[in-house]
Amino acid sequence: METQDLSLLKAFATSHAERVTAFMREKLDELPEDAPGLCESMKYALLLGGKRARPVLVYAAGALYGVSESALDYAAAAVECIHSYSLIHDDMPEMDNDTLRRGHPTVHVKFGQAGALLSGDSLQALAFQFLSDPRSGLSDAAVARLTRVLSKAAGYNGMCGGQALDLDAEHQRLTLSQLRHLHALKTGALIRAAVQLGAQASDSAAAAELEVLDRYGADAGLAFQIWDDVLDVTGETAVLGKTAGIDALNGKNTYPALLGLDKAKAMAAEAAENAASALDALNFADEKTAVLRQFASFCVQRDH
Ligand code: IPE
Ligand code: IPE
Ligand code: MG
Ligand code: MG
Ligand code: MG
Repeated sequence: METQDLSLLKAFATSHAERVTAFMREKLDELPEDAPGLCESMKYALLLGGKRARPVLVYAAGALYGVSESALDYAAAAVECIHSYSLIHDDMPEMDNDTLRRGHPTVHVKFGQAGALLSGDSLQALAFQFLSDPRSGLSDAAVARLTRVLSKAAGYNGMCGGQALDLDAEHQRLTLSQLRHLHALKTGALIRAAVQLGAQASDSAAAAELEVLDRYGADAGLAFQIWDDVLDVTGETAVLGKTAGIDALNGKNTYPALLGLDKAKAMAAEAAENAASALDALNFADEKTAVLRQFASFCVQRDH
């Protein structure tokens, strides 16, 4: 696999990760003091680390249509809230039973299991408070579209459905097409949604363009999760910020477990290439889609 230049993405991702984190911090600081312990656990889960990959996709897709960054902040924060909540619950003893996340003790270790459940629940609700906040300045039609996109990707048809399949299949061997479906739901759905949130924040994205972007999101999402599986085998806990090797311990279905490491890496690279080449069907200048293209390569070059 060739190493691709990621310099444009790196600059874009650094500034936009900072941007969405500052936005989320400001909004959490505005919350009333009703339940300070819960607020502390929400801040812990949301603000301490994380690559902010999904918010970066929101900003990058929105930029294709000239959507203002201050409008995109709300959608970017919303998808990060759903993602961070999914991580809190994913780490709980009844799911993946992990004690380290983003380089810190997991939320249930720090705040107890009830604290983890409630901070996850609250972040999920906060996501939809962000999406429906009139201060975003999005049109009512856009808010309705984005709500539909994110709620579908988060729940039964998306992340939660995938997490259920993941847990049901522990210590059993899935076929490749079953595993691909599982990955499409548990991780692909939210990455696809991030791209759609950015693009559909605009009232002028054409249906055919949204379809192309959806193919991009699906392939980037698959590449992202296959590489997550690869890193579980090849990565180090200190770099990952989460426990390396936990998938085998939990009897998870992963691409390396099913196909071996080399084939898994090749399939991740293929998915990343498919994502980038899907963008060829768009009539934007190459400079406009460069960040999205580089994001596809980043999915399979990252070390954490
Ligand atoms: C980890 O996601 C869980 C998956 C869905 C693969 P990320 O790798 O985006 O985790 P953070 O947000 O950077 O911590
Ligand atoms: C997570 O998949 C998908 C989620 C929806 C959180 P993993 O269980 O592989 O994610 P990590 O490796 O714990 O981050
Ligand atoms: Mg899991
Ligand atoms: Mg996990
Ligand atoms: Mg993993």
